[in-house]
Amino acid sequence: MNLDLTGRRALVSGSTQGIGLAIATELARSGAAVVVNGRSEERTEHAAEAVRREVPDAEVTAVAGDLASEGGAGELFKATPEVDILVNNLGIYGAKPVFEIDDDEWRRYFEVNVLSAVRLIRHYLPGMMERGFGRVMSIASEAAVATPLHMVHLGVTKTALLAVTRGFAKAAAGTGVTVNSVLAGPTRGPASEELDDPKSLTQRLIEPAEIGQMIVYLSSTQAAATTGGAIRVDGGYIDSILP
Ligand SMILES: NC(=O)c1ccc[n+]([C@@H]2O[C@H](COP(=O)([O-])OP(=O)(O)OC[C@H]3O[C@@H](n4cnc5c(N)ncnc54)[C@H](OP(=O)(O)O)[C@@H]3O)[C@@H](O)[C@H]2O)c1
Repeated sequence: MNLDLTGRRALVSGSTQGIGLAIATELARSGAAVVVNGRSEERTEHAAEAVRREVPDAEVTAVAGDLASEGGAGELFKATPEVDILVNNLGIYGAKPVFEIDDDEWRRYFEVNVLSAVRLIRHYLPGMMERGFGRVMSIASEAAVATPLHMVHLGVTKTALLAVTRGFAKAAAGTGVTVNSVLAGPTRGPASEELDDPKSLTQRLIEPAEIGQMIVYLSSTQAAATTGGAIRVDGGYIDSILP
């Protein structure tokens, strides 16, 4: 299968490090022009350089902006009015006892993990539908279907992200645009020693590039029949047949 994304423009939210940076790199490797994003100019430029180092002929643009705010998203829309591939990767997480999560923190999780994706989809999806091609993917987590006791705010917002993504998939019905969630499992990164990899069937951490490779497939024309779904790249971590 030749997954060629030449001629497509992709945006990956929150892509200065970790899974987002790996997704941007894999999309670039497959020929897409890629927009990387983070909150600061410096880290965003640094990420663009990292993609160029991996994929020397890649077309990479760095656009800084805090996507948890309307203003930050507005700046991004000015700099990048249209894309063919949107990856809602941005997400925050961290352990906290559920009784200690106050209203402000609940609001922050909702703004970052849910509303940032809603804003980006609302802006970019109509153009994709008009042009008859587009790919939207939201990075959810095993926490979306198995609420973790020590990260209830993460679980709740990732469950909401699945519903948001399914809802927009319905809005795009019959247009040639697909809209999916990708459920990532415990993935190698700076905090990965705290993760629960032995519970997965692969009994190892997922490599960020493995999530990037699923994104490349879902972005391709070959994946046109996959929409409205939640696709697992979790190493079999979720103990169910369906997500
Ligand atoms: N890591 C895992 O094991 C795992 C498992 C399942 C699902 N996931 C999901 O995968 C996604 C990526 O996770 P990760 O571990 O790779 O994340 P990460 O290493 O914490 O990186 C988060 C990225 O988001 C950016 N960011 C943070 N707040 C932002 C904002 N308000 N506006 C724009 N960018 C912002 C950060 O850039 P700056 O700091 O430069 O702004 C950084 O590039 C998340 O949705 C997470 O829930 C991760």
